[in-house]
Amino acid sequence: MADITTDVLIIGTGPAGSATAALLAGYGVETMVINRYRWLANTPRAHITNQRTMEVLRDLGRDVEDEAYMFAAGQELMGENVFCTALAGEEVGRMKSWGMHPTSRAEHQLSSPTQMNDLPQTFMEPLLFKTACSRGAQARLSTEYVSHEQDSGGVTTTCLDRLTGKTFTVRSKYLVGADGGNSKVAEHAGLTFEGRMGVAGSMNILFEADLSRYVAHRPSVLYWVLQPGADVGGIGMGLVRMVRPWHEWLIVWGYDINQPAPAVDEAHAKKVVRDLVGVADLDVTIKSVSTWTVNNMYATTLSNGRVFCMGDAIHRHPPSNGLGSNTSIQDAFNLAWKLAYVLKGQAGDGLLDSYQAERAPIAKQIVTRANKSIEEFGPIFKALGLLDSVDPVKMQQNMDARCNNTPAAEEQRAAIRKAIAAKVYEFDAHGVEMNQRYRSDAVVTDGQPEPVFARDPELHFQQTTWPGARLPHAWVFSEDGKKVSTLDLAGHGRFTVLTGPGGQGWIEAAKVVGRELGIEIAAHAIGPRQQWQDFTGDWANLSDVRDGGVVLVRPDHHVCWRRTDNAENPAAELRRVMTAILGK
Ligand code: FDA
Repeated sequence: MADITTDVLIIGTGPAGSATAALLAGYGVETMVINRYRWLANTPRAHITNQRTMEVLRDLGRDVEDEAYMFAAGQELMGENVFCTALAGEEVGRMKSWGMHPTSRAEHQLSSPTQMNDLPQTFMEPLLFKTACSRGAQARLSTEYVSHEQDSGGVTTTCLDRLTGKTFTVRSKYLVGADGGNSKVAEHAGLTFEGRMGVAGSMNILFEADLSRYVAHRPSVLYWVLQPGADVGGIGMGLVRMVRPWHEWLIVWGYDINQPAPAVDEAHAKKVVRDLVGVADLDVTIKSVSTWTVNNMYATTLSNGRVFCMGDAIHRHPPSNGLGSNTSIQDAFNLAWKLAYVLKGQAGDGLLDSYQAERAPIAKQIVTRANKSIEEFGPIFKALGLLDSVDPVKMQQNMDARCNNTPAAEEQRAAIRKAIAAKVYEFDAHGVEMNQRYRSDAVVTDGQPEPVFARDPELHFQQTTWPGARLPHAWVFSEDGKKVSTLDLAGHGRFTVLTGPGGQGWIEAAKVVGRELGIEIAAHAIGPRQQWQDFTGDWANLSDVRDGGVVLVRPDHHVCWRRTDNAENPAAELRRVMTAILGK
């Protein structure tokens, strides 16, 4: 007999584990989450929070979304990505980032009801964790996962209570390994990986200093410092990252991965800070120094039987593009509703297979993207002449050459501008953040071909109701003037039917089929004198179906089926699709 029983045991209270616990608790699933430490993230780590993640928080509740914005540095403080020789030194170039270029800003606003923001992990984790616990998840800190064994009925996990030193067992129907980049759960479950760990060494120096006078006129989350002769870090150069504007900061600095991680004392850390800021007597308080490695590895299998892994456990990559915590929370959004449906007997076990089919390609994509973004600093170094010599004096001369009044200098200036502009693939890759389209048995296309991307899919989000894509966002209005996003009509653990005038049959079908399957299928009609008005015509333009057609949306906002026109027997059609998706 196990000491404790629960439906889902989650290892890890990072963004992945806490989000899964919060979602499952919200869906009414009995869940328990453990963390080997006594509290949550103790350094800011992840911070860039993209719109898709904010949509997950919004789905958890407007209170959760609002609290995130309350603690975050807003998007307007994120966007002047600066390249300089020191914060107090010369600026070499700048690019508008994170949706702050006016054209990109428009794309962001048209894509989602949410806004990108900078929310350090020290705020994100407590928000998700609190949401989980307040909604019924059991949580145990200072509790370490040791091992697990599974059989046809469930998983028995051995845990160590680090306060008493005693082990105990937890019996659950499913085990979720959200235990980070060194995941023991993934290892014990025998998941397969491709790629390499420990590609480069990085160190974080967390410090406090009022840097307002160097940054407030060019607000950004990232300041890239190119100092000839200085160590080249895991992400290419010295990075001064805003944690709290403009007094708390994190420097990311490299070390040689072929050597042991350096022991950095306070004096050394202060020297790095003062060098990168460029003020020899800067008043600075060092809060912590830690080291970490840049990884380039993704799982090719995400689960084994009743054990599922997510987050850094299945995608291990550098912070470039800010994809880690975001993708981890999005993994949770994909898996949690599936677990809930299976546990409640509303879906067959087969539904869980779609987690692998849908998220494994994303894991590969983001690991590849993040590592490629590091390489894409190369052309900046090259254009500045930093690769032509290892002599700091010569390197500085090469950089200075760009200021000359010569054809060669003009060419160099053009090359620098081009190389910086190309970093849009790291600092403004809206498509990477939003264009996730799923292909699996939990999506029914009925043979409709995938729409091709009209523009670069890494840079631009293309909304479509093609089954597998995230439901397009459009604002719609109630009779009394309430404004909601189409995404607000979907989600919250339910399937949703969206139709228009003439789609009454789909609304009825949702009731009938929902009753038969023992689930709630929400139904909304959008159009004149319908429940929701589409005054702007945005939904009509985006829906890709006629007024009598239908768009069926999963609990994670992804479209799972659509039909352009009305059907002779809407209930039969909806039954066919829903039973296929739920594997019933
Ligand atoms: P995470 O590592 O956060 O959590 C793992 C959890 O498992 C922890 O609670 C841990 O204690 C627990 N655990 C581990 N082993 C255990 C065991 N045996 N027993 C019990 N508990 C155990 N991402 C992003 O989206 N945007 C960004 O801007 C950045 N920026 C960034 C900067 C820097 C400097 C770093 C180092 C990283 C980022 N990231 C990022 C990446 C981000 O921090 C990372 O991807 C997420 O924290 C991953 O979340 P997980 O929940 O998967 O793992």
